Amino acid sequence: MQEKAVALVVCVKKRYADHQPSCGGRGSQRLYEQLKMLAQPAGIAVVPFPCLGACEYGPNIRISPGGPFFNRVTETQLPDLIAEAISFRDGLNDTVANP
Ligand code: FES
Repeated sequence: MQEKAVALVVCVKKRYADHQPSCGGRGSQRLYEQLKMLAQPAGIAVVPFPCLGACEYGPNIRISPGGPFFNRVTETQLPDLIAEAISFRDGLNDTVANP
């Protein structure tokens, strides 16, 4: 049986006007790069995304497909996000193995 894959989707949209908030304007590109490096050993993909629709609350990251959404993410939260993604993936695979 094929295992389900999950990804951490990171909004990297950057707007340059001061009155237009964006995840990229709050450092999400750096979070994306760090997360990519940290998540690789766990087999969790990290995917850049142009906008997750919650720009005022960024940096925003979500677990895909259909997982939780995280706002105002900071560097210190990244290990917890990876743990959440692993747990989410395990839950999906349990559901597939034990319907
Ligand atoms: S800019 Fe990140 S959610 Fe829109």
